[in-house]
Amino acid sequence: MVQKITAKIGPSILNADLSQLHVESQRLLDSGADYLHLDVMDGHFVPNLTFGHPLVKCLRNKIKNAFFETHMMVSKPEQWIEAMANAGVNQYTYHVEPVEDVPLICRKVREAGMKVGIALKPGTPVDVVVNYIDQVDMILIMTVEPGFGGQEFMKPMLEKVAWLRKNYPTLDIEVDGGVGLNTIQFCAEAGANMIVSGTAVTGSSEPGRVMRSLKDAVTQVEEFFCF
Ligand code: DX5
Ligand code: ZN
Repeated sequence: MVQKITAKIGPSILNADLSQLHVESQRLLDSGADYLHLDVMDGHFVPNLTFGHPLVKCLRNKIKNAFFETHMMVSKPEQWIEAMANAGVNQYTYHVEPVEDVPLICRKVREAGMKVGIALKPGTPVDVVVNYIDQVDMILIMTVEPGFGGQEFMKPMLEKVAWLRKNYPTLDIEVDGGVGLNTIQFCAEAGANMIVSGTAVTGSSEPGRVMRSLKDAVTQVEEFFCF
């Protein structure tokens, strides 16, 4: 029997109709989303550009209560902490790769009143987190190269998830990239409990049903898979 960890589904609105961001986001929340995963890209850390804190603030003005996570795919995560906190972000998840002083940023994020997540690109080994584990609320294991929605799931990344789950039984572990009905079982059995899903949810005519299936897969895991 595995230790029970709370399953949460956070749809990514990256590939949704962004001209209808507020309506789309509310629809996902009404259909069962536990939180919103907002993909912030700077065109430098990743070869794509999305939106920043002004848009997040507008969304917050429309949606008062939902939990907002920003996935900061940016070269200078320290630069946007205050602005995102002011925009009403609840969790600031940033990539360790471009950062020299990870503990400093974790501290600043918490001082700004947000939860802190750290994210690892596919090429980043999982053991880099060992030194920071007591300073973070969540670890995001990317299952695609960050930058675009709709890419193919990278199954070998689940070794990192399984390693984290084995060593930190109660840690919040998020997966992001190519996660949908065909890949959720692998994620769940590796030990992921925070599930980001973009195109599989927003591209479906029944997003509520998809999110329920994703959540059930995580909730119903009886034993974690060991690599
Ligand atoms: C990719 C983003 C993901 C993406 C997920 O860089 O971080 O959040 O939107 O979309 P899918 O589920 O379509 O891979
Ligand atoms: Zn993301």
